[in-house]
Amino acid sequence: MTLRLGGSSGPPREHAEEAARGRARLREAVEALVAAPPGFIEILEQGDAVAEHCREHAAALRRFERIVVLGIGGSALGARTIRDALAPDEGDRLVILDNIDPDSVVRMRDRLDPRQTGLLVVSKSGSTAETAAQLVLFTRWLTEAGCDPAAHITLITDPEKGPLRALAGRGHSSLEIPPRVGGRFSVLTPVGLLPAALLGVDPSALLEGGRAMWHAVRDREDHPLLDWVVEQGIRSERGGERIQVVMSYSDRLRTLGDWFAQLWGESLGKRLDRHGAVVHRGSTPLPAVGATDQHSLVQLFVEGPADKQFLILGLEPDATPLAPLSGAGELAEAFGYLDGSSLDALFEAERVGTIQALRAAGRPVTTLQLSRIDARTLGALFVLFELATVLAAELLEVDPYDQPGVEGGKIIAFARMGRAGYAEQAEALIGGITDEEPGTPLL
Ligand code: PA5
Repeated sequence: MTLRLGGSSGPPREHAEEAARGRARLREAVEALVAAPPGFIEILEQGDAVAEHCREHAAALRRFERIVVLGIGGSALGARTIRDALAPDEGDRLVILDNIDPDSVVRMRDRLDPRQTGLLVVSKSGSTAETAAQLVLFTRWLTEAGCDPAAHITLITDPEKGPLRALAGRGHSSLEIPPRVGGRFSVLTPVGLLPAALLGVDPSALLEGGRAMWHAVRDREDHPLLDWVVEQGIRSERGGERIQVVMSYSDRLRTLGDWFAQLWGESLGKRLDRHGAVVHRGSTPLPAVGATDQHSLVQLFVEGPADKQFLILGLEPDATPLAPLSGAGELAEAFGYLDGSSLDALFEAERVGTIQALRAAGRPVTTLQLSRIDARTLGALFVLFELATVLAAELLEVDPYDQPGVEGGKIIAFARMGRAGYAEQAEALIGGITDEEPGTPLL
């Protein structure tokens, strides 16, 4: 496995001193992670028992033709990323339901045979409304088909707290999310490792890759991640380049961009800093995919406002192309330049072309090159981005582990659903804001 971070021009020269201070601060922050490891690092050092446990559960669940994951946010995106990166043809075997749009939920459910379907219900808190509603719907569906829900449902939740844990006490099988690991940092717990094992991906290899990345950052004084985080922070806070584009030249890594966006957005976008001052900090993650978005977003990236910085992921090209091209000139003379080449070569040429065009337009680009996409590499990428996020939070002086900004919408939704105890809180939040008017007809 090789992962290389490179190509950056560094922070603007006028901020060299601030960059040096930032670097020193991040080194201290890494030492603090060593001294008091947060949950997502602790799990990397806890041996392989959890991977073994996931393999055993997966073996038992193979009796089902299909597994449906019920969860949302950090409880769904990690599994989706693993499936799409490492088992991209298994979308039918592992269905991930990370929304409650009744249209898609019901259409999906009606394609399933309840007798052949196992459900993984994933929620750290155990009380997320979307997941609770999905569970209620699917439990009834199983019961109506004459199935025993407890035989079909596996719960992945906090070891002690929450309504799902209580349900586990009533006969459903369950796995634990360690108490100190929050939703968006939970991919290397059973939240991601059980779906991985179900797909035939080795959970130990994911953990091993994550551990290797943590050790590299921990042990290498000059680890390039620190430079990237410092440059990122300075450009965002001082240079106004507040949008962090993560563009993958790989369909398999498309969902990794979504996973990163949730991690980065929810961890860094904060009203208050650690001292309680109102700061409204954060940098906006924007996932993109090459070459597709060359025909969509790249125009904006090259010529639009200079408010973005770019991390471009790519794979080292294989020595033997997967998709050689021939007969192009016969099809049309204008296609002749493709003859004797390959899709692989065109893809690579377009990746390089985009990077160079962005740089020529003065846009800051860092590249992240992978030798291949396998379980170890993906585990390493997860931990790389988790570390980048907590280190970026250090520079922004915000708490990466909370998400107070999502509470308001939840409280209002609960009040509207008639949940006891929420009306007053919702009223206090809404103040004078009235319900939306129907709007003016357009047609
Ligand atoms: O990162 C987070 O904490 C959130 O995005 C959660 O993952 C999401 O809200 C789902 O929460 P839970 O796992 O408690 O159902």
